[in-house]
Amino acid sequence: MTTVHVPLDTRAYDVRIGAGLIDRAGAEIAPFLTRPKVWIVTEDTVAGLHLNRLKSGLAADGISSEALILPPGESTKSWPYLMQVVEWLLDEKVERKDVVIAFGGGVIGDLVGFAAAILRRGVRFVQIPTSLLAQVDSSVGGKTGINTSHGKNLVGAFHQPSLVLADITVLETLKPRDFLAGYGEVVKYGGLGDASFFEWLEENGPALAAGDAILRKEAVRHSVQMKADIVVRDETEQGDRALLNLGHTFGHALEAATGYSARLLHGEGVAIGCALAFETSARMGLISQESPSRWRAHLAAMGMKKDLSDIDGSLPDVDGLIALMGQDKKVQDGKLRFILARSIGDAFVTSDVDMTVVQSVLKDALAKC
Ligand code: GLY
Repeated sequence: MTTVHVPLDTRAYDVRIGAGLIDRAGAEIAPFLTRPKVWIVTEDTVAGLHLNRLKSGLAADGISSEALILPPGESTKSWPYLMQVVEWLLDEKVERKDVVIAFGGGVIGDLVGFAAAILRRGVRFVQIPTSLLAQVDSSVGGKTGINTSHGKNLVGAFHQPSLVLADITVLETLKPRDFLAGYGEVVKYGGLGDASFFEWLEENGPALAAGDAILRKEAVRHSVQMKADIVVRDETEQGDRALLNLGHTFGHALEAATGYSARLLHGEGVAIGCALAFETSARMGLISQESPSRWRAHLAAMGMKKDLSDIDGSLPDVDGLIALMGQDKKVQDGKLRFILARSIGDAFVTSDVDMTVVQSVLKDALAKC
């Protein structure tokens, strides 16, 4: 087992990464408890695959547990389910010093983290992420929240977990497409801040996707360490934390254009969005002309979508896509903020982007569809 410490002063915590952490969840969580009971919130698919294992892992250390099982999918990250979680925890008489467990992917982590943030003005919670995306991104850093009819993640709070247990054995149960979508967030870390990690992924990505447990653990550890370093510098996203949004301005527009459906998973949108961000950087003369094709070549080697032409069905035109970008949370004073790059591994945040360049990047990408 490996630990990444997130040194956030009074909100510091550990992220443990390794095989079998669910089986030893009781030993890991016991130090945080004032009474031997926890409340687990999860969803149907994860419950079917892993809930008994978690309950046994807790019981092995004398910890009893109650579970609330919600439907899977993005629509669970919403007001009605937030209310259901909060009311359930109140019915269960959960106290401020108790621990709630978010057991699932990003939807469950964000929803339960937000419920924990507002219940009794803040109860502690432990993240046990079960998707690659949640292990390397959403379970770390304390962003919690729900979607509303106005958009994604528009209501929420920063609420750091007390502990994160990333058991890499659960990744074996993911569908290959879901694993690769999570990989979109892994490779993003190489793109935003670590060229040598990108090179390591170019070399090891295919074996990691094929199931090599040592490589998977190292990829999760490295990603979590990079995320922790950024979150410690900028917990509430006043500056550097926005780097984690590399690929997201384009990616969110594509997700919106495809109706947040199975046509394009979030991590797929991020990976394509990174390619478009590198292309924009290249056309602005910031990055070498070869960088976007090198990025796309790696996505292709991984069997991932790399371009707009890989997305099934029709897409809006250039103006339509740019209008969808305008809905992004990163708009400030009416100006879009982009994460661009000086090289793969050296990204920066800027509002100073010539939109005619973005238009030409999108026009050329759409022309290949
Ligand atoms: N997923 C981006 C962040 O945590 O800031």
